[in-house]
Amino acid sequence: MTDTAPTYSGPQRILSGMQPTGGLHLGNYLGALVNWVALQERGAACFYCVVDLHAITMPHNPAELPDAVRKAAAAYIASGVDPEKSAVFAQSSVTAHAELAWIFQCVARLGWLERMTQFKDKAGKDKERASVGLFTYPVLQAADILVYKATHVPVGEDQKQHLELSRDIAARFMRDFDCDGFFPLPEPVIQGAGTRIMSLKDGLKKMSKSDPSDLSRINLSDDADTIARKIKKAKTDPAALPDNVEALADRPEAANLVGIYAALAGSSKEQVIAEFAGQGFGAFKPKLAELAVERLAPVANEYARLINDPAEIDRVLAKGAERARTVAGPVIAEVKDVVGFWR
Ligand code: TRP
Repeated sequence: MTDTAPTYSGPQRILSGMQPTGGLHLGNYLGALVNWVALQERGAACFYCVVDLHAITMPHNPAELPDAVRKAAAAYIASGVDPEKSAVFAQSSVTAHAELAWIFQCVARLGWLERMTQFKDKAGKDKERASVGLFTYPVLQAADILVYKATHVPVGEDQKQHLELSRDIAARFMRDFDCDGFFPLPEPVIQGAGTRIMSLKDGLKKMSKSDPSDLSRINLSDDADTIARKIKKAKTDPAALPDNVEALADRPEAANLVGIYAALAGSSKEQVIAEFAGQGFGAFKPKLAELAVERLAPVANEYARLINDPAEIDRVLAKGAERARTVAGPVIAEVKDVVGFWR
């Protein structure tokens, strides 16, 4: 990790978040959580929130939201996020996020937000009907990060643009209010290239909770038999595995399974290819299933245990929020002074 802004001299801090989608999957695990855990072990203060404020930018069911937050938190912990080391909390329980988001809405420019591709994707054709919150979503994300003066943000490729916006907002704030060095310019920590986990049914689509086919993803709550069955049924092509990674370029499903194997084994696609070159999927899939079950079973077991003990999750979330507030509280107080609010 490198220094992010020459004038910022505060401590390194890590922040990331995921939406409470009601159950996380292999893509979240290999694409994000594994990285969160690795960063946690480096000793910087880590803040891992469940972004329920972001969740309401799209139509949602209020009756399901609290459990969706608990499930996401359980998945973080089951994946190895240690609540003793990292603050695990619901975004909405630290009100400073929303307060800073408002101030940042007055710093960010309309033109900056109009360039955000995720809004265009999520709003679809009828963007006049999208909520204003969906439009300002990345401003709230900037507030999530900067309310902790976080220096590093583990995210997937698709969030790079939002991180750039966060830096633009931080820089503009410091320029407008003449407070150089107040915020760091947060850097994305992009997960390795092999960790973009695609659907098991379509190698060109990201593995997603919203895919109607449950066979398209491996959920962190799936048991061993289900995992093995889904891998067996995963889409492939008839050819054997090639002897070089480049030859996977136009074979998205094959590339995805090799990538999943490499990520689960903690190795590289090159190493996987070296081991399996010339073998067909009839041989490769059972090996992949075995590895997936071995790696995911402990996660699934811990997840199941936590889900059956919501009181424990609630204790973790309450403690995490308290710890988060001790950092965010003084920052938002300083920000209010900078912008000149009465107190
Ligand atoms: N927008 C992120 C995503 O879709 C989720 C998110 C919200 C986030 N706030 C954040 C990620 C702050 C990193 C930091 O994945």
